[in-house]
Amino acid sequence: MSIEAKPGKSLGVAMKRKEDPRFIQGKGHYVDDISLPGMLYMAIVRSPYPHATITSIDISEAIKVSGVKAVITGKDLEAAGLGWLPTFHGLDKQMVLAIGKVLFQYQEVAAVYAESRGAAADGAEVVQVDYDPLPVVADPFTAKKDETILRPDREAKTNHIYHWQVGDKDGTARALDGSAKKVKQRIWFQRCHPAPLEPCGCVAEFDKMGRLQFHVTSQAPHVYRTALSLVTGIPEDKIHVISPDIGGGFGNKVPVYAGYVCAVVGALKLGRPVKWIETRTENLTSTGFARDYHMDVELGATADGKLTALRVSTAADHGAFDAAADPTKYPAGMFGVVTGSYQFPVAFAEVDAYFTNKAPGGIAYRCSFRVTEASYGIERAMDILADELGMDAAELRRKNFVKKEQFPYASALGFTYDSGDYHQALEKALDKIGYPALLKEQAEKRGRGELMGIGISTFTEVVGAGPSKHFDILGIKMFDSAEVRIHPTGAGIVRAGTKSQGQGHETTWAQIVAEELGLDPQTIMVEEGDTDTAPYGLGTYASRSTPVAGAAIATAARRVREKAKKIAAHLLEVGEADVEWKDYNFQVKGVPTKSVTMKEVAFAAYTNPGPNEPGLEATNYYDPPNMTFPFGAYIAVVDVDRETGEVKVRRFLALDDCGTVINPLVVEGQIHGGLTEGFAIAFMQEIQYDAQGNNLNTNFTDYLLPTSLETPHWETANTVTPSPHHPLGAKGVGESPNVGSPAAFVNAVIDALSPLGIRHIDMPVTRDKVWRAIRDAEARREK
Ligand code: CDP
Repeated sequence: MSIEAKPGKSLGVAMKRKEDPRFIQGKGHYVDDISLPGMLYMAIVRSPYPHATITSIDISEAIKVSGVKAVITGKDLEAAGLGWLPTFHGLDKQMVLAIGKVLFQYQEVAAVYAESRGAAADGAEVVQVDYDPLPVVADPFTAKKDETILRPDREAKTNHIYHWQVGDKDGTARALDGSAKKVKQRIWFQRCHPAPLEPCGCVAEFDKMGRLQFHVTSQAPHVYRTALSLVTGIPEDKIHVISPDIGGGFGNKVPVYAGYVCAVVGALKLGRPVKWIETRTENLTSTGFARDYHMDVELGATADGKLTALRVSTAADHGAFDAAADPTKYPAGMFGVVTGSYQFPVAFAEVDAYFTNKAPGGIAYRCSFRVTEASYGIERAMDILADELGMDAAELRRKNFVKKEQFPYASALGFTYDSGDYHQALEKALDKIGYPALLKEQAEKRGRGELMGIGISTFTEVVGAGPSKHFDILGIKMFDSAEVRIHPTGAGIVRAGTKSQGQGHETTWAQIVAEELGLDPQTIMVEEGDTDTAPYGLGTYASRSTPVAGAAIATAARRVREKAKKIAAHLLEVGEADVEWKDYNFQVKGVPTKSVTMKEVAFAAYTNPGPNEPGLEATNYYDPPNMTFPFGAYIAVVDVDRETGEVKVRRFLALDDCGTVINPLVVEGQIHGGLTEGFAIAFMQEIQYDAQGNNLNTNFTDYLLPTSLETPHWETANTVTPSPHHPLGAKGVGESPNVGSPAAFVNAVIDALSPLGIRHIDMPVTRDKVWRAIRDAEARREK
């Protein structure tokens, strides 16, 4: 079957789903809404120490608490062969409940099961655990010294987890040595957290047939089913995973957490359903964090600003277990996209990951596996180079962009970018924001000593993991899937291996089917997240849904259309070769008046299929030939108060190109949400640990979320450069605003401060940090 990219325009079906209650997100079917007869509640005892030997655990007081039914510890699980859980990365394993020692503050130590949530919490309060504190390793640079080995369970007696590299090391060194201009900057993308509004949770129940009914906040239900089977030994057909409505995931709901295993064990042991819902503090302190990459970025260039080389060396803080949810062959994810939108004759990137006494994770928070770190690194470095060259930041980018005619473009670090038009995107964005007028205003303000900054970020993403020859998780290839079934009346259902957490698949998947088959999108039911009904898929994260499942849906719908064509030929009493699909109807070629609609064909498929097999349905497992490479040009305008360090984002323009747009309203919503998260990361958010390994951001008064008062007004624009290999020409979009915006914000602040000789401030760029940087710069000047 031939697959062609559609022309670069929005798909044509109107979106009216808002009126249909079945499709409205938030209809109240969340895990915490589930209440089953005889259900028990679970609470987890957590370690106050970041690194300590457990000398004893006494549960005698806890089991006396009214309503408490049982308490389990790591030793109980170990005895049952369930002490350790494989991480999705496949390179490491993780303790379910601590065995012998704890490795990070808030680590899971015991699970308490009780008749009510309150009783479970009361029981957890009085579990007596004695700890003998051990030296703490709070950063990767201390870890590197190997003075304290954190993971004696591993064969290799070192805190070093892996070294990964890509590119031409010697060639890059030579090119940098020979470059007329060089810049080098340590850039830290701080540890942050996706903090979905709904924390993680599950209800585990063994039904009357002994089958595990597992309701869970999972972005990847099928992978959970397989992982649960592998960990517990329960045959996979005896596991039913259901992900109901999910209140945000952002990568945080990809890993399998200790609490899930404990809930399943409790349900099995006690013969009653068990519910576990995390608290906000548990979510922030023990579930998948994001980023924590310390990047040394070096750029070489000619005197007139032509890039000659890029070298990036990164120390990655992975916490106590290597639980990064990266594809097996990519321990540092897609970090190789660090060459960004630019032509580098040569480049080299390496990542060294270390264990520390912090929570595990390193998940793809609204990011295609370390793309956000890579994008931030290159976009910050480009501005530092522009400053060094005394060159306009837009001009430096223009001079070095991959050109439209160079696509498909083989990057120096091994990706083949599918399509792009970076020059058009930047010019349109500069035009929309009124760049020349802003530069003029800035020059005038600088003359008066005022601090105004303009920050540009022209990022390229790599999304749609992924082609099976490269990508797998736990050995499972990263395809995705769809089943399209059309009922006799022309209504239908599409089931996919993905799982929306608010991205609006209920709308866009129906639109794809409707567009391909000429049906009403409001009569196409969308179902995801149920492993008994949906075909096997790898789930929704890393903006992979549209590039992979979107393609599977389009392909399955086209298969339905192929079959429908045979039935149409039967109805029209002509040969199949004489039938064409035109204007959403089957027509006899050259005789447009002789036609049948898909609805008529659907009815015939069940009532009068002629010589054809009855029924109208198809399934597709889509193995993408390549990733998709969305891109954008973002521009921030800020004013900085010299006296207080306060930054005001006066304007922000986001121009995105995600190929063919399926639904402009959904895309706009994705961009607004991602920009708001990017803004929070740039200015407010960091999961901080002190030198003793204490987590300092355990709730929303310390880990800040922007409200409508802080959030800037977003201006948006787009260009459309279809992906040549995707059936619809669509690329992913959900992550782009989170990937592209942090650099635009920070570049704008540093641009404002550059007259003072300030070159870099690590995120979050708080008022305090800005004020100190100004004060120090002024002190230097006075000397
Ligand atoms: O994997 P995830 O759903 O988070 O990300 P995505 O593939 O970027 O899609 C996010 C939402 O935007 C989905 O509802 C997509 O169908 C929609 N979208 C779109 O309408 N057009 C695109 N070119 C890309 C995404």
